[in-house]
Amino acid sequence: MGKPTFYINGKFVDEREAQISVMDHGFLYGDGIFDAFRTYDGKIFQLDAHMDRLFDSARIIDLNIPLSKEEFKCIVMDTVRRSGYKDCYIRPQVTRGVGSLGHDPGTCKESSVIVYVTPTPVLKKERSLRTIISSYRRSPAFILPPESKITHYMNNILAKMEARKRGADDAILLDIRGFVSEGCAWNIFLVKNKTVATPSISSSILRGITRDVIIHLLKEMNISVEERDVTVSELFTADEIFGTGTGSGISPVIEINGREVGDSRPGPITDETDIKFKEFITKTGTSVFE
Ligand SMILES: Cc1ncc(COP(=O)(O)O)c(C=O)c1O
Repeated sequence: MGKPTFYINGKFVDEREAQISVMDHGFLYGDGIFDAFRTYDGKIFQLDAHMDRLFDSARIIDLNIPLSKEEFKCIVMDTVRRSGYKDCYIRPQVTRGVGSLGHDPGTCKESSVIVYVTPTPVLKKERSLRTIISSYRRSPAFILPPESKITHYMNNILAKMEARKRGADDAILLDIRGFVSEGCAWNIFLVKNKTVATPSISSSILRGITRDVIIHLLKEMNISVEERDVTVSELFTADEIFGTGTGSGISPVIEINGREVGDSRPGPITDETDIKFKEFITKTGTSVFE
């Protein structure tokens, strides 16, 4: 039991009151940042890493967060507590705030701070993904910094729409150079001859919190992980491919552009990593209700 709970600019409000101005530059221009946290059984997964990324995103776009990290963390915990949900998504968002119609951020006096907590949707048991390689590319840092979570997801949305139109679940985007970058909202790992590779930060990826945990776990499992440029041919010849993200943890990729990956089933390293990841979740996390 619980209810969706919202914090907006200093107040906890219910859904009807959870509104921001149409003159907020977050709405007008996508001028803002966000992050996506998650709880498992009343514990927030990787809270500090998420808070760090949220504050880094703000620094990248030179956005003032009118709270310290500690204060923001307390608001996040309080919003979850008030919601009563043990398993939920937490969506903190900071926008440039209300300003005049032009996009000049100088007209915005105060940033808007929003935290939204909603129950985690029940995921399909079948998490395997059929994918396409999108014709859209991940934007390089000199166009839109891909390593920050800016409220400007049109790149990913267009790729997702393209995937759906072509009968797939999701899309893999390449970077501007044509190397593999990531999925619409997940990082990508491929396995070949028991070695794992994942695109590095220079392939326009979002540095996923789950990605960092998986790299750590693979090293603990004595599986070597290379962070490097990955080619499309490597995708087509991989033994296993999986995606990682807050939304669905580990998702096996079983098809790309109509071609089977491996034998079209989650492979042994994917399965083993999934088990280790679930163990890690139960052993870690910041308790909200104690
Ligand atoms: C573009 C993109 N890449 C990767 C990820 C995975 O990141 P994380 O593991 O932090 O959820 C996300 C998650 O929202 C994303 O939006």
